[in-house]
Amino acid sequence: MVNEERENKLKIETKKNNKMPKLGVNIDHVATLRQARGGIEPEPVFAAFICESCGANSIVAHLREDRRHMKERDLYILKETVKSRLNLEMSTSTEIVDIACKVKPDQATLVPEKRQEITTEGGLDILSNFKKIKITIAKLKKQGIVVSLFIDPDKSQIDASKKVGANMIELHTGRYANAKNPTAKDKYFKEIQDAVNYARKKGLIVNAGHGLDYYNVSRIAQIEGIEELNIGYSIVCRAVLVGLDRAVREMQTLIS
Ligand code: PXP
Repeated sequence: MVNEERENKLKIETKKNNKMPKLGVNIDHVATLRQARGGIEPEPVFAAFICESCGANSIVAHLREDRRHMKERDLYILKETVKSRLNLEMSTSTEIVDIACKVKPDQATLVPEKRQEITTEGGLDILSNFKKIKITIAKLKKQGIVVSLFIDPDKSQIDASKKVGANMIELHTGRYANAKNPTAKDKYFKEIQDAVNYARKKGLIVNAGHGLDYYNVSRIAQIEGIEELNIGYSIVCRAVLVGLDRAVREMQTLIS
């Protein structure tokens, strides 16, 4: 499917579903568990299959430069087997961009990446990396891949995202998720709400994610105009206790 067709499909889906965000399940931490023993279990591809069969609207996987969880072979098999949409989280490193161009996921979400971090710490700084991001977006779009930029809920980054050629952004919900008291939670919630409205007025498709769990997701899901919520860690943690199918269904229920 060429890029324009994919974007039109997303726009139509956005119109149909403007009340309830979709759920993208990030399966990185299934691969983190596999990595603990360096073997072949649990298989992330099976996890993707279960998530989809329980209603996940997309499967998200991050191929890190240090390959700490997902491997290239996972991406190739996911590309063959995912029936919904495959969203590849990735940095702008040339090696990873070349792999993305070969795998051709439905969507690529550009994220900042530092070797030492435990998880993606902040949003991309589009302003300081404008040229590199612009070149990366052009390369990916040429392969028919829809490109999203993971940014902090900040007007200058939203403006820059539009300017650099993105049609889609993902707002970092980490500050809201990690807020230690109700006042801070309200402040960061409002920041996200304002950013969603601002970005939508600019014509961007808006996703959100990071740090969302069974306790904090409902409030974010009620913000009108969010296309998709991308959630990983909390779902995989819950899956260890109650099973992946139930963990995904429960998250879907909270979102809707
Ligand atoms: N969105 C992006 C861009 C991410 O980097 C991550 C973490 O891999 C997530 C969403 C999911 O975050 P969490 O695992 O905290 O739900």
